Amino acid sequence: MSKKLGYFITFEGGEGTGKSTQLKLLADYLSSKHIRNIQTKEPGGTPVGLELRKLLVCGDKNKFDPIAEALLYYADRRVHLVNKIWPALENGEWVLSDRFADSTMAYQYYGYEKRVDKSVLEQLYNLTVGHFKPDLTILLDIDPQIGLARSLQKASGMTVKETRFESRELNFHNHMRAGYLEMAAAAPERFVVLNADKSIEELHQDVVNAINERFKLS
Ligand code: TMP
Repeated sequence: MSKKLGYFITFEGGEGTGKSTQLKLLADYLSSKHIRNIQTKEPGGTPVGLELRKLLVCGDKNKFDPIAEALLYYADRRVHLVNKIWPALENGEWVLSDRFADSTMAYQYYGYEKRVDKSVLEQLYNLTVGHFKPDLTILLDIDPQIGLARSLQKASGMTVKETRFESRELNFHNHMRAGYLEMAAAAPERFVVLNADKSIEELHQDVVNAINERFKLS
């Protein structure tokens, strides 16, 4: 990337935390402040990414080992950065992404109970993303039992079932949540942790407060 002019904000969290709803509401809020922004997601923020997404979120939960899975998420991420995120930031737009690299650490490392060497994932980050990182990461935190129930209810109305991770046992989700909280505690300058067990409107207000404080918007 040559010169970064916009900000990069990521939403993270387990299943059913309301990330995509909150991301859309934040995009509307920024637009109301005349801040140009784009909404995107991982996996699947680009046409190539959408192909990878099908492989990653549908089908048998055991079809990849954690390293193969992480490589595919990083392939999606590299295309996403080069083709979409970096050009938008150079163009002065703010980029709001539903998930980024913290998801890989949370799911493929903590979720799988550290079966992969952490340094392997750190090396993949360095190779693919380099020194670049989000300006702010909003972690939406919720008890996995509540989040999974919400997420499975949403999936029941869909024709393509994106439930590869929802079908993992509760333990996986508890480890992943604990991992997110550990990462947030280790990098308070980047993370804001919000309790997602609230109404959409209340949580949106918390997101707006966090953004206003971090970027001195109002
Ligand atoms: P979504 O349901 O939030 O769109 O995300 C797709 C699924 O992919 C979700 O279950 C989390 C999982 N995921 C990972 O396991 N590792 C990653 O690096 C990313 C980006 C997502």
